[in-house]
Amino acid sequence: MPCQMPTEQSQSCAPAYNPQMTSYDFDSPPDRRNSHSVKWQRVAGRDVLPMWVADMDFAAPPAVLAAMRQELEHGVMGYPAPWPSLLDAVVGGLQRDHGWRIDPDWIVLLPGVVSGFNLACLLAGSPGDAVATLTPVYPPFLSAPDNTRRQLIRSDMVLEGSAPAQRWVCNFDDLAARCTPETRLLILCNPHNPVGRSYSREELLRLGALAIERDMLICSDEIHCGLVLNPDTPHIPLASLDDDIARRTITLMAPSKTWNIPGLSSAFAIISDAKLRRRFERAADGLIPHTNVMGLVATEAAYRDANEWRLALIEYLRANAQHVAQAVSAMPGVCTTPVDATYLAWLDCRELAQEKKENPVAFFEAHGVLLSDGREFGAPGFLRLNFGCSRSTLDEALKRMRQAIA
Ligand SMILES: Cc1ncc(COP(=O)(O)O)c(C=O)c1O
Repeated sequence: MPCQMPTEQSQSCAPAYNPQMTSYDFDSPPDRRNSHSVKWQRVAGRDVLPMWVADMDFAAPPAVLAAMRQELEHGVMGYPAPWPSLLDAVVGGLQRDHGWRIDPDWIVLLPGVVSGFNLACLLAGSPGDAVATLTPVYPPFLSAPDNTRRQLIRSDMVLEGSAPAQRWVCNFDDLAARCTPETRLLILCNPHNPVGRSYSREELLRLGALAIERDMLICSDEIHCGLVLNPDTPHIPLASLDDDIARRTITLMAPSKTWNIPGLSSAFAIISDAKLRRRFERAADGLIPHTNVMGLVATEAAYRDANEWRLALIEYLRANAQHVAQAVSAMPGVCTTPVDATYLAWLDCRELAQEKKENPVAFFEAHGVLLSDGREFGAPGFLRLNFGCSRSTLDEALKRMRQAIA
């Protein structure tokens, strides 16, 4: 049972924005030029707007910063151990936001989601076996099998429906045909980076059924689950659907995207099956670094005390997504699909004029906007635009792109 309608006590995954709530100023984020940001360092000294790597320009929620200040005052930065109120905050947040009731014992703390899916590949059979995923996808999905001496099996997603409501979906026949008997793991990205899809219950059940039929593990990267913009497509944790699916699923989550704290290296796996969890923990032992105390303090505050901020952010990002859709509709040769979730828009530039589409990243960068290259996601001719920024920065970037094409 993934999702109930909101009640007074427990809001569900379709976020209802309450205009009475404290207002947060997403219009005037801190200036990140000359900060320690990888996103902004790439454009240092140039009049180029960075719309690439997936972090937002907004400061972390006040509740998160307050909790970190308090920890800093204590002054001792020793190795942390998970503490009850941290685990309670995560358990409570998942129940509140997705209607998913988990046991705190199922949580394995991690310094990052990427480490988590690399570990999942290590559990997938033996070297030489295969790992399947749906492409295009977040680039570290494409390298994790090779990192762990597994083969990568890619199944390209396909466009369904007609513009402007087209959406990227799994080609189930293709995926089933490509999964060989050696395919021991399916890595899923839900919500999906870069195509912005929040998978439906039917799609997830079909993916789960395939994994059961072929006796595959599933690693479900749900790092973007707190940022569902479309109230009609609530996030459904794959492992919440069915016990048979849950038994073979490693779910990966983190506060990092939703509350914009990716530099704090805090994430976690949720694994209900005790045997699978022990295998995962053993694989991590000695290979994966410890979590850091500031990240864990921030995690607790984010899940417990920053839901209002999250709902206000969603409202802001939803409007940003509309600005992107509107601007792209006026860019000849570029099209996009509606974003259910994430702050990422996936732009199809294959119809741009030849000299522009040869290297669309370089083309737009030369006109003052730095985007992510679709080639890294397995899809040449596409670009990913990060709209997790102030409306004025976004509008300026979109204006530059329109002018570049004109
Ligand atoms: C789907 C997905 N997984 C994982 C990550 C990164 O996770 P982490 O920084 O916790 O390793 C990202 C970052 O953009 C992402 O989009």
